[in-house]
Order: sequence, then C-alpha cells, then structure tokens
Amino acid sequence: MQLIVGASGAVGIPTVRHLVQLGQDLRALSSSEASAERLRALGVGEVVVGSYRDDGEIERAMRGVDAVCYIPARFVEDEFKVGKATVDAARDAGVDHFLFCSAFQPQLQGLGHHWQKLLLEEHLVESDLRATVVQPSMFMQNLRVEWPVIMATGEYRRPYSTGSKMSVIDTDDLGEAMAKIMTDSCLQGATYQLAGDGPLSHAEMAEIVSEEIGKPVLAIKRDINDWRVWATERGWTDYAIENYMHMCDHYDKHGYKYANAFTLGAVLGRQPLSYREFIRKFAAEQSTK
Ligand SMILES: NC(=O)c1ccc[n+]([C@@H]2O[C@H](COP(=O)([O-])OP(=O)(O)OC[C@H]3O[C@@H](n4cnc5c(N)ncnc54)[C@H](OP(=O)(O)O)[C@@H]3O)[C@@H](O)[C@H]2O)c1
Repeated sequence: MQLIVGASGAVGIPTVRHLVQLGQDLRALSSSEASAERLRALGVGEVVVGSYRDDGEIERAMRGVDAVCYIPARFVEDEFKVGKATVDAARDAGVDHFLFCSAFQPQLQGLGHHWQKLLLEEHLVESDLRATVVQPSMFMQNLRVEWPVIMATGEYRRPYSTGSKMSVIDTDDLGEAMAKIMTDSCLQGATYQLAGDGPLSHAEMAEIVSEEIGKPVLAIKRDINDWRVWATERGWTDYAIENYMHMCDHYDKHGYKYANAFTLGAVLGRQPLSYREFIRKFAAEQSTK
C-alpha cells in the first residue's frame, strides 16, 4: 500500500495516474470530499479525508502503509511543520520508503517555499528513513494561467525579465518519474534534480508558442504590482504573495537555471518532453475544451 499526501495538485494527479497504470494499491490523504471523489475515479482505492495539519489524520492515513509519496501544497506558511509531522509519522509507522517532492534549488534562502523544502530535506536525512528526493524545475503547465490572455491578446505576460533563462519540466514526465521511483527500489535512496528542457528565456518560450499556434505571441514583463492586485483579488495569502514576489525578483535577476535533462531522461528511460512538444500537446488539449 502506498500513501500519497498532496495527491490532487499539479504534481499529484499525474503521479497518481502513472501509479494506477503500474497497478499499485493506493491510499491518499485528501482535504476535501470533492478531491477524494476525483481521486477515487482515477483509481485510488482508499481515500482518508482529513487535514495534514491534524496529527491524528496523518497517523490514521499511515496505518499499514509500505511507502509514502509526500507532495507539499504550494505557498503554505507552515510547509516545514506539515512536512516534519508527515516524515515523523512515516518513521513512527515504520514505512519502508519515503519520496519527497522538493524543488530545484531549495537552498534559496530568500524564497520561503524553497527554504522550507531544504529544511525538510535536512529533517529527512536525520529521520533515517530510506528517502528519495526529487527537485523539479519550473512546471511547463504553469502556462495554463496565462493561456487565455495569450489567446485573446497575443501577449505572454510574466512578472520578470523576458530574457531570464528558466529550466522547465512537463508535470506528466515528473509524475511518471515519481511513479517509477515509487515502484523501482533501484531508483530509491537518491536526490534527483529534474528538468526536461531549457534553460529557455520567457522570450524564447513565447516564440515557440507563436510558431506552434501560428499566431504572433510577444513576451511581456508584467508589472509586479499589477500581478499583486490580481493575486489579492484571488485570495492569495500574504505569505504566498510575498514569497511569489521574492521569487519573481530572483527570476528577474538570475532566472531559474542551470539544469539539464540528463537525470530525468535516465529515470524515465527515454527523452523527456521538450518545451516545443509540450506546447504542441497543450495547445491541442486546449483546442478540444
Ligand atoms: N509550479 C512550479 O513551477 C513548481 C516547480 C517546482 C516545485 N513546485 C512545488 O511543487 C509542489 C506541489 O505543487 P502542486 O501545485 O501539486 O501543489 P498544490 O496543488 O498546491 O498542493 C497539493 C495538494 O495538497 C493537498 N492539500 C492542501 N491542503 C491540504 C490539507 N490541509 N490536508 C491535506 N491535503 C491538503 C491538496 O489536495 P486535496 O484537494 O486532495 O486535499 C492539493 O492539491 C509545491 O510545493 C510547489 O512549491 C512547483
């Protein structure tokens, strides 16, 4: 039995899909009945509905579990505390393997959502659990947020320099890699920095989008205060807004480089999806919606 914590997000859904394809017995800890229903429909056999902030629920979810895949929710202020409670519960339950979805360059101290992941990596080492850490680069699927504006205006707007170079990954490749790690003991007990393509600048990505959809698309540096208004209107917390803005400032100055596709290709046993292939797939999916 494998427990997935954080199963309903951008990383969790493709990981679950690939684990189901591999015929695994899955349990998920989910915070809502609506998510639980979706997970059951995808083939998750058991869903414990409860919060990872509740020690009792985490312990209940760990019962009889052989392995844990932990995917932290994005931009959550108590990320390390939640992660630590999950690691401790897994150790106390005697699980055999723990997979943690961290992030590429967790050592960036000014970015709370990176630093808290590095603290959890340290805690995992000291837990003595047999652990694997994946450090994925920027998700190609983040484009989903800007896509309607790109289609409506031809402007691809991100709140950092259009020249900043980013290492990127398809979340479906990430989910497949995580599912392989969960099911192949030869891949366990390592830290993997995972990227599928790049580094590519925002301008280069806009050019690829333009070529693939056959319309002009221009990369635009979005004003960060305009982004802040957008995020506030959508109920982002102060912690989330502050850290997203720190992240954009870092991207503006340094981008999110350098990673290469070697490790991801080795885990997958094939070439990862390139950004151009991703755009082709993504645009085709969007046109059928
Ligand atoms: N975006 C990027 O480019 C990028 C790149 C590298 C790394 N990352 C990192 O990847 C991680 C995963 O991202 P994501 O988008 O998949 O995360 P996400 O959707 O924000 O969170 C994962 C899942 O956690 C569950 N959850 C939330 N609150 C919960 C609670 N109180 N109790 C139990 N479960 C709860 C939710 O599923 P339920 O609805 O089932 O509860 C949610 O879908 C993040 O930590 C992010 O920082 C992101």
